[in-house]
Amino acid sequence: SNTKHFHFNVEWKSVTRLCHRKAVLTVNGEYPGPTIAVHEGDHVRVVVTNRVAANTTIHWHGVRQVRTGWADGPAYITQCPIGAGKTYTYNFSVVNQRGTLWWHAHFSWQRASVYGAFIIYPRTPFPFSAPLQPHIPLIFGEWWNGDVEVVEREMMLHGGGPKTSDAYTINGLPGPLYPCSTKDTFIQTVEPGKTYLLRLINAALNDELFFAVANHSLTVVEIDAAYTKPFTSPAIMIAPGQTTTVLLSADQAPGDDSKSMFVMAARPYLTSVFPFNNSTTVGFFKYRTSTKIQENNPPALPPPFTLPDNLPALGDTPFATQFLGSLRSLASDDYPCNVPKTIDKRIVTTVSLNLQDCPLNQTYFPENPPYVFNYTGVNPVTENMSAEFGTKLFRVPFGTKLEIVLQDTNFLNPENHPIHVHGHNFFIVGRGFGNFDVEKDPKDYNLVDPPERNTVAVPMGGWAAIRLITDNPGVWFVHCHLEEHTSWGLALGFIVENGKEPSQWLLPPPSDLPPC
Ligand code: C2O
Repeated sequence: SNTKHFHFNVEWKSVTRLCHRKAVLTVNGEYPGPTIAVHEGDHVRVVVTNRVAANTTIHWHGVRQVRTGWADGPAYITQCPIGAGKTYTYNFSVVNQRGTLWWHAHFSWQRASVYGAFIIYPRTPFPFSAPLQPHIPLIFGEWWNGDVEVVEREMMLHGGGPKTSDAYTINGLPGPLYPCSTKDTFIQTVEPGKTYLLRLINAALNDELFFAVANHSLTVVEIDAAYTKPFTSPAIMIAPGQTTTVLLSADQAPGDDSKSMFVMAARPYLTSVFPFNNSTTVGFFKYRTSTKIQENNPPALPPPFTLPDNLPALGDTPFATQFLGSLRSLASDDYPCNVPKTIDKRIVTTVSLNLQDCPLNQTYFPENPPYVFNYTGVNPVTENMSAEFGTKLFRVPFGTKLEIVLQDTNFLNPENHPIHVHGHNFFIVGRGFGNFDVEKDPKDYNLVDPPERNTVAVPMGGWAAIRLITDNPGVWFVHCHLEEHTSWGLALGFIVENGKEPSQWLLPPPSDLPPC
C-alpha cells in the first residue's frame, strides 16, 4: 500500500470575520485547515509540529485506527498532548472505509478553528451513478469574535451555556446575513447539467444543523464514510461530528447571470445555548453561464436572495426524525452490513444534563442496568441520577458483540446529543421517543440494513440503541460531540482488550509518543 505524507504546523494566524480581527489557531495558517485526501488502504503519516505556546493534539474523526489507538488523538485518553515546540507523527492506515471524514484538534476547544476534511477515495468504483466532477467539501463551523478559550473558561467557571458563537460558517465564511460579511461568502461555480458530490461535514462546536439548497434536492449516498442506500431529500440534518455525502445535480435551467445563483443555507436544528440563536449561514452555487459572459463578469457577489423554502425551521423535530429514519446501510454484496444479530452484552446509559453535584454530571453507567426507565417527569433536583467524574474504565474482551442503549432523559434542557464513539463504527439498530423498553423495543430493531456511523444523534427525550463488535484493541473515548458537554463530563472511556491472535493486538506505540 502507499504511504501518504502530510505536514501540519499548528500555528496562530490573524483572521478577520465580521469585522473582528483576531489570532486564530490554525494548521499551516489555513482556516479551515488543509484537506487530507487519501485512498482506501493507504498508510498515512502526518507530522504534527506544535508552534504555539499551548498544548495540542489532532484527532482523525471516524478513522477506525485499527490497532493504532495511540494515533487516535484525544488528549489524556490515548496520548498526552504535543507540548509547545514539540512534534508527534501520527501513523495509521485507512482500512475498509471510504467517503468523507474529517480531522480536528482534540484539546480543550481548539477544534473551533483547527479542523479540516479527511477524504478517502475508494479503490473500487463509486457504487452510485458516477459524479465525476470535483468533489466539494462543505464544512460547517462556528466563529466567535472573542477568544474561544475564554468562552470555554467562562462557561466552566460560571456554568450555564457558553456564549453563543457570533456566526455559523460554510468553509470558514459566514455569508451575507452577518455583519460585514458579504465579501466573506462561499460561492461554488458549477457546470449546468452536471452532478456533484458534496461532502458535508458538521464541525460546529455546539449545534446540530439543517442544510438545504434552493431549487435542488440532495441524494444521500454515504454517511461517516459508510455507503447508504441512496435517498433523495429536500434538506439534511447533520449533527456535530457527523459527515454526509450527497449528490447534487445542477439541473436547473440557468437563466441570465442574475438568475444563475442558487442559495445554500445551514442553520441550527436545536441550539444548545440560550437564548436560541436563529442565525443562518448562507453560500451560493453559481451556474457557469456562457464563457464569454463569464469573462466580463465582475467577481461574484451574493445577489439579493431569500432563504431556500426547503430549509427546515428551527426545532423541526418531525423533519429531523424522518430524515434520520430514512438512513439505511447500502447492505449490498460488495458492501455488506455486518450488524451483530445477537449480542454478548447490553449496556444502558443515560445521556443528559443533571443538577446534582457540582459541576454537572451527565453520564450514568451502571454495571447492572436498571432496565426499566422512567425519566418522564423525574425531578432532577430531588432525585439523584448522577454519575461521577472518574477515571474508572470498563473493559471488554476482544470480539464482544456490544449493544449500548443511550437514553436521553430530557431533565434540564431539551437537547439532542450527538454521541461519538472512537475506534469503532456502530450500527444504529433502533431509535425512539420516551423511555426505552427492553421488553418491547428490541423487537423492532433493524438488523438488516441499519445505518453505520461513528456519531449518533440521540433524540431529545428519547433513546438510540447501537451495536458494535469490539474488534479494535485499545482505549476508546465516547463522548457527546457538543463541545460544552464534553467539557462538563458527558464522556466515558472503555478498554478493548487484546485478542488471542497477535493480529488482534494493539501495535506497540511509536517512540515519539508525547510524554506527560
Ligand atoms: Cu470528533 Cu472525540 O471527537
